[in-house]
Amino acid sequence: MSSSQLAINGGQPVRPQGPPDWPPDDGEVREALIQAANDRSWGKYHGPHCGRLIDQLSAYHEGAHCVLCSSGTAAVELALRALKVQPGDEVILAAYDFKGNFQDVLAIGAVPALVDVRADNWNIDADEIPAAITDKTKAIIVSHLHGGVVDMPSVMQIARDHGLGVLEDACQVTGSQMFGTIAGLAGHVGVLSFGGSKLLSAGRGGAVISKHDDVIQRVRLYQQRGNDAYPMSELQALVLSPQVDRLEERNQRRLQNVGLLKEALAKEVGLTMFENTGITSDLAQPGYYKVGFRYDPSAFNDLTRDNFSTAMRAEGIALDPGFRSLHRIHSKRRFLAIGSSLPHANDADDDVLTLHHPVLLQNQDSINEIARAVSKVRKHSFE
Ligand SMILES: Cc1ncc(COP(=O)(O)O)c(C=O)c1O
Repeated sequence: MSSSQLAINGGQPVRPQGPPDWPPDDGEVREALIQAANDRSWGKYHGPHCGRLIDQLSAYHEGAHCVLCSSGTAAVELALRALKVQPGDEVILAAYDFKGNFQDVLAIGAVPALVDVRADNWNIDADEIPAAITDKTKAIIVSHLHGGVVDMPSVMQIARDHGLGVLEDACQVTGSQMFGTIAGLAGHVGVLSFGGSKLLSAGRGGAVISKHDDVIQRVRLYQQRGNDAYPMSELQALVLSPQVDRLEERNQRRLQNVGLLKEALAKEVGLTMFENTGITSDLAQPGYYKVGFRYDPSAFNDLTRDNFSTAMRAEGIALDPGFRSLHRIHSKRRFLAIGSSLPHANDADDDVLTLHHPVLLQNQDSINEIARAVSKVRKHSFE
């Protein structure tokens, strides 16, 4: 075996142990699980753990109301209903977004209106929103994705001008500072996800947050429907509580390591990190559930993005293709496309790569390994 050979061809990987696992080993979570076994709260419908998590999340989010639920996807549906989206209404979202958000709009019987994303961060372009507004438009879904930050002040101004509700999807940016508030509160209603790979992980779970009494009242109404229709369990709440206490410290560590990664990759062409042009760190701080990159195959001797990703995975680096753009994977009958060709969402579909976050809590050596693997794969692509 040669370390100079690509791992995919039998060489020694840059990171033989592979990407760090998630969630990490956590003594406090283990303690909490033992406690749940002892007091049998793990099997109860109601108990103290969901209540405590609500208090923690509410305190973290400036005293906003918080309703726990079974997933981020369920939270998006509840939030859309709380914004009074009805069958036949139109909901604006980015053509490059989490697929479940599109499906949630359809689940309500509403129509997704897809707008293009920005060229620098492939998040929804606020300038594209006005052209999508009709007399049927009810709400806008805004997701901050892969280290991208959406210009919330502009989105909120458009929403005010047209009387629309804004759902801020903070599933990828939980706890981040956004334009003078915390992610999820910059719109009328926000959603969080506690899926198994997320920054706060319980295998599954989600939450809806809002400072608006009427909005959260409607969330509760839809959630209960005579029973807890989208519940979070006591067990999920129990493992989340200790993680909330460490979220801010971990978010700062991730931010620092992304800074180091940017430096380490500074000389690498063909892999460009998402940029939030005009949004400085005093205005908003990106969250890093994934670090997004634009991949340019021409800098890697036309190695396809998917083959580059496979080679990086073999080197022990979790760098994967991004989402599929929504207009490319759904029948045209199911959505409205604003602008004829959605050019940047097409690029995103072809070119986005995302680095999974666990490595961002590791040391500088781990960050440098990412750059070493990129340079190794490039070198071999030209051989
Ligand atoms: C932006 C965004 N929104 C919503 C979700 C849905 O969350 P969940 O997996 O908890 O349903 C995800 C999950 O990855 C996401 O990335």
